[in-house]
Amino acid sequence: MNEKTGITIPAEVASPPEPAAKRMGVPARMIIFGNEKGGSGKSTLAMHVVVGLLRAGHKVGSIDVDSRQATLTRYLENRAMIADTKGFNLPLPEHRLVIRSERSPDEDAERFNQAVDALSRTCNVVVVDTPGSDAPLSRLAHSYADTLVTPMNDSFVDLDLLAKVDPETFEVICPSAYAEMVWEQRKKRMARDRGSIDWIVVRNRLSTLDTRNKRNMEKVLDSLAKRIGFRTAPGFGDRVIFREMFLSGLTLLDLRDTGTKLTMSHIAARQEVRDLLTAVVSGPVPAAALA
Ligand SMILES: Nc1ncnc2c1ncn2[C@@H]1O[C@H](COP(=O)(O)OP(=O)(O)O)[C@@H](O)[C@H]1O
Ligand SMILES: [Mg+2]
Repeated sequence: MNEKTGITIPAEVASPPEPAAKRMGVPARMIIFGNEKGGSGKSTLAMHVVVGLLRAGHKVGSIDVDSRQATLTRYLENRAMIADTKGFNLPLPEHRLVIRSERSPDEDAERFNQAVDALSRTCNVVVVDTPGSDAPLSRLAHSYADTLVTPMNDSFVDLDLLAKVDPETFEVICPSAYAEMVWEQRKKRMARDRGSIDWIVVRNRLSTLDTRNKRNMEKVLDSLAKRIGFRTAPGFGDRVIFREMFLSGLTLLDLRDTGTKLTMSHIAARQEVRDLLTAVVSGPVPAAALA
């Protein structure tokens, strides 16, 4: 426990993991943020969903498996710090940073499983932020998802990790790297506990200007959704406010408690966050209900 911030961030696993059988039915609902593309908004959206669920009264755990960037961890530390220094009443999750093993994927798995076990004893939902790369730890986290949220920039460069697309017709030619990885983890999840993964793709940093690109992306995503099995949620606009809030550890759901004067942009951005929360909790709910 960091005395100053109050956030629990064990650097190393203290005791051996539980037997596999005990881990089979993870009771907490697992919401994973994933996309092999860096900079797509995983950590920003994960933070907003953590705070949204806390404010809705859930017992929320969070796990950061991107120990290299540790954006979610840093965001939460900033939040704890500002709550402390300014006396704001800001809800915080029970947080774990899982440090990537230098030795083996097995050690990664032990560390991750132990974090899940610990959090699912006290939390009914666990939000996991993953790195923008294909690593064993990230794959493992995906295989535990009840809900997988994939933010992507509204660009064909980002879409290329989901599917190859015909440049003339915009027809989907075949799924690509990230979609195939998700398919593999869906099979693992099914084999482990017969569970399924509700996959949501969210377009992030939508431009107000580029309507032709927007329409083309929409068309491709709609046909891809049916083909590889995801649903889409309303996207987030490209707004400076999402970049500015990191340092203060605040989200758009905290503004009332911090005496911030709301602008039209705040209100529009906050609605986007609420729409995402509605999409996340309204899917087929396999474990602890979130409604
Ligand atoms: N909707 C948005 N509007 C503007 N900037 C955004 C938005 N979402 C994320 N960002 C910014 O984009 C960058 C990448 O976001 P981040 O959440 O760190 O992505 P990832 O975790 O996928 O690498 C950060 O600088 C973040 O502040
Ligand atoms: Mg990140």
